[in-house]
Amino acid sequence: MLNSAALGFVVLLSAVEAATNERVNYDYYKYHSMPEISKWMTQIAQNHSEVVTIMDYGQTYEKRNISLLKIGLSTGERKKAIWMDCGIHAREWIAPAFCQYFVSQILQTYKTDPKMEEMMKNMDFYVTPVLNVDGYLYSWKDNNTRLWRKNRSPGPPGCKCDGTDLNRNFDANWGTVGVSSDCCSNTYCGSDRVSEPEAQAVASFVGSRKEDILCFLTIHSYSQLLLIPYGNPNFIAPNQDELMEVGLAAAEAIKAVHGKIYKVGTSPAVLYANSGSSRDWARMQGIPFAYTFELRDNGTFGFELPENQIQPTCEEAYSGALHIVNYVHDKTFKGPMDGAGATAAAALWTVLLAVGVTSASM
Ligand SMILES: *[C@@H]1O[C@H](CO)[C@@H](O)[C@H](O)[C@H]1NC(C)=O
Ligand SMILES: *[C@@H]1O[C@H](CO)[C@@H](O)[C@H](O)[C@H]1NC(C)=O
Ligand SMILES: *[C@@H]1O[C@H](CO)[C@@H](O)[C@H](O)[C@H]1NC(C)=O
Ligand SMILES: *[C@@H]1O[C@H](CO)[C@@H](O)[C@H](O)[C@H]1NC(C)=O
Ligand SMILES: [Zn+2]
Repeated sequence: MLNSAALGFVVLLSAVEAATNERVNYDYYKYHSMPEISKWMTQIAQNHSEVVTIMDYGQTYEKRNISLLKIGLSTGERKKAIWMDCGIHAREWIAPAFCQYFVSQILQTYKTDPKMEEMMKNMDFYVTPVLNVDGYLYSWKDNNTRLWRKNRSPGPPGCKCDGTDLNRNFDANWGTVGVSSDCCSNTYCGSDRVSEPEAQAVASFVGSRKEDILCFLTIHSYSQLLLIPYGNPNFIAPNQDELMEVGLAAAEAIKAVHGKIYKVGTSPAVLYANSGSSRDWARMQGIPFAYTFELRDNGTFGFELPENQIQPTCEEAYSGALHIVNYVHDKTFKGPMDGAGATAAAALWTVLLAVGVTSASM
């Protein structure tokens, strides 16, 4: 028989179990198939209905929905936003795993961490766990298709190969460097700029909100890099210095977690020149902060990163992504309090003092 103290203990244990259930029930440290990820999205939206909604914003070549999770506290006002997409390249399985981890982390943190709560009030997070749905499904089909990269649309008439490299298909110096016009190539850029429905979906969703989107993060593997615009060496982002500075600090944050070294730079500087990437397109649309994450590893396992590296990879990448998100948020909502910002604030104070408005609302 249980005395009341023991009963209380049992009740307490059940409460603790209930609170941690969510994390226990979905294994973020395994690779998940497309049906599992779709089901996960539905559950996340149900379990966190106060902050999460699913948005279907396009269809793949094979007519599957492309969906994202919109995460944020609704304020009734128009909000700024952060974009993150994963799985634009089918075989880079660690990327969708990271998007799921990222979502679970911000949903866990915002209730206890005032900074995350503030960010969720000021910004919405648009997270697409799997952008190239058809390709991802194909990469799960069997061992022969595991390393599929492109989408699944057929090549031009007469071509015997399928698929366009979606990250060469965007309207950003399209077709100029680091692409192939051979439809059998892994870097085939498509028959025209934005010819592919998956690229069109992103261009249309992001394009219609480009004034609100502060930051565009697109997640790939592998190579351990943070890439900034542009992929074409003839173009330089107007805020390249700031992009580098923030990227280098993010790489430091990554290194602090498990010691992994991520290089930072433009694609031609640290990887290879390319064109038509979604990152470059986002920057050309006026979205100030655009980064490609190339997650682990450095080539030992490549695209087939073992599951026992999912957790450390996600932990370090989360730290890097959060650094960028924090920076972008604070810059927008707190203003740089040194240099120009401080001068502007001082000038404002002078004006307010002069007209005698120094109380209440400040
Ligand atoms: C949603 O909540 C249910 C009930 O607590 C839980 O079993 C499930 O694992 C949760 N799903 C996710 C994806 O967190
Ligand atoms: C696809 O998206 C549309 C539009 O949101 C929705 O009505 C439909 O139910 C979705 N289909 C599936 C299979 O989820
Ligand atoms: C597929 O690849 C895995 C790992 O490389 C191997 O263990 C498995 O036997 C392969 N399956 C088939 C059917 O070849
Ligand atoms: C890749 O990483 C492994 C493990 O961290 C390390 O032993 C190896 O030297 C690295 N290789 C390169 C080419 O950096
Ligand atoms: Zn990639």
